[in-house]
Amino acid sequence: MRQPVRGEEMRHVKLQIRGLTATYRTARGTITALNGIDLDVREGEKVVILGPSGCGKSTLLKIVAGFERAAAGSVCVDGLPVSGPGPDRAFVFQEFDQLFPWLTVSGNLSFALRVARGVTGREAERAIDEVLSLVGLSRWRDLYPHQLSGGMKMRVAIARALVLNPAVLLMDEPFAALDAQSRSLLQAEVNRMLAETGQTLLFVTHSIEEALVLGDRIVVLSASPGRVRQIIEPAVTGVTLLERPEGAELRRVIRQLLEQDRVAGEMAS
Ligand SMILES: Nc1ncnc2c1ncn2[C@@H]1O[C@H](COP(=O)(O)OP(=O)(O)OP(=O)(O)O)[C@@H](O)[C@H]1O
Ligand SMILES: [Mg+2]
Repeated sequence: MRQPVRGEEMRHVKLQIRGLTATYRTARGTITALNGIDLDVREGEKVVILGPSGCGKSTLLKIVAGFERAAAGSVCVDGLPVSGPGPDRAFVFQEFDQLFPWLTVSGNLSFALRVARGVTGREAERAIDEVLSLVGLSRWRDLYPHQLSGGMKMRVAIARALVLNPAVLLMDEPFAALDAQSRSLLQAEVNRMLAETGQTLLFVTHSIEEALVLGDRIVVLSASPGRVRQIIEPAVTGVTLLERPEGAELRRVIRQLLEQDRVAGEMAS
């Protein structure tokens, strides 16, 4: 187990999830997507959620975002219950096409700022300039989404989330559709940017490597309905972990946890 970094034990719980259960009503009955999730995320911490397909990862993020409601349990940000979407949380989706195609890069950002924050004019321009330079998009500010590569579009989606300056960033497999090179570049950028901004991250992925590169802690969920199977706290984080023996060992442990579910699922079906 990792020793807390100096001051870390003092950091307060930004996001508190207690007994979170989520259900969907369908024509074929009620589906339980999540069952009794407990999780605390400290301020500035990067927590990655891993788990088999359909275990409720997106559902968890959507409830934290306030897009969907829990059947039971609670989500609090800074001790206050989440009752809907709010400017303290921003969501980055997996899809490339989450931008408005009729707006330029800076247009997409200024629209978000105006609608979500009520910020316009000089103040908006300043915030947009700052965030575009942070994600390395300043040169492309006047282009439209169709003029950008997939990786650049994803960068704009991240910039649009960051410009709102949310305390909590929610990312649902944002890099899943990218090539390996763009993906590792953006992972490094997320690490760099969040080290700068101190924002709290809840990040969903299917990639064990990505979880190891990004996660201060990695939460492995069990197969549907999702429960917390194990929380892993690597001694070191970042890309260097992948090259170390601890990284290889963690990869093996996590793969085994995920594999157990697959086998159990097959035996049950
Ligand atoms: N809108 C919905 N209506 C009914 N059932 C839903 C809905 N959204 C999700 N579900 C069900 O809830 C469960 C969890 O879905 P969810 O999308 O949260 O899983 P996930 O872990 O994100 O999966 P994946 O890794 O494939 O993205 C699944 O059984 C899914 O079929
Ligand atoms: Mg999902």
